[in-house]
Amino acid sequence: MAARYRNWFWLGLAALAAAVLLLRPQEPPKIAQVDSPVEVAEAQPKLLALTFDDGPRRSTTSKLLEGLDQRGVQATFFLIGKQIEGNEDLILQMAEGGHQIGVHTFDHVELRDLSPADIHRQLDPTREALRSLLGDREFILRPPYGFVDDTLLQQADSPIILWSVDPEDWHDRDVQREVAHIVSHVQDGDIILMHDIFSESVDAALQVVDQLRQAGYAFVTVDDLLLSRGITAENGAVYRHAHPQ
Ligand code: NI
Repeated sequence: MAARYRNWFWLGLAALAAAVLLLRPQEPPKIAQVDSPVEVAEAQPKLLALTFDDGPRRSTTSKLLEGLDQRGVQATFFLIGKQIEGNEDLILQMAEGGHQIGVHTFDHVELRDLSPADIHRQLDPTREALRSLLGDREFILRPPYGFVDDTLLQQADSPIILWSVDPEDWHDRDVQREVAHIVSHVQDGDIILMHDIFSESVDAALQVVDQLRQAGYAFVTVDDLLLSRGITAENGAVYRHAHPQ
C-alpha cells in the first residue's frame, strides 16, 4: 500500500473504532458484592402490626389468642375499660403471650371535643384497672374512630396509635373480602386495624397471618414495630405506620 493511502487507512480505522465505542449499548455500572448497609436492610423481614380494638370479648378473643399462640405471633389489643372486669384471665393471657395492651377508653366514646377532665374519666380508670392486673406499666392509646384533637394530644399521657390498613371488618363480616383487602393493601411497616369482637375477624386475621408469613412478613407488636424502625414513640404524638424511610 502506498504511503498516502496507508494514512487514510489508519485514519478510517480509528474513526470506525470511535464510532463503535460511542454506539455500543450502555451497561449499568457494576456494583461490588459486599455487605453494604442496603443489603443488610433487605435481608430483614418485612414487619406488620396486627391491632385489635373493642375487646376483650370472651368467645372471640380467646379463640384469637389461641390461634396467635399456635402461630407464635404477637399482636396489640386496645381494650375497653368496662370490659376488663370478668375477663381478667384473658388479659393476663394476652400479657403472658407477649402481646401488647393499650386502652380504647372506658365506655368506647369519642375523645374529640371532650374536656381534659372527661378525657381522664375515660383513660385513667382503664389504665388503673390494667395496672392492678398487670403491674405498673405504660399503656398506649387508640382513640375510638381515630378521632383526635389538640386537647387529646395534650392529655393522652401516651403515644396515640392509629392505623394504615383498615379492612372495615365491622362492615359486612365477610372473611374472604377482609383477607383479600388486607393482603392486597399491606406494605412493610403497616399497622392493621381489626376488631376481636367478631368471629369473622378472628378467622380473617389468622388467615392473613398464614398468607403473609409465606410472603415474607413477620407480625410484631406496635412497640416492636416502631422500635425496629428506630422510632421512639412519644406521648401526645400520633403514629399510623412505620414504613421504611
Ligand atoms: Ni372501637
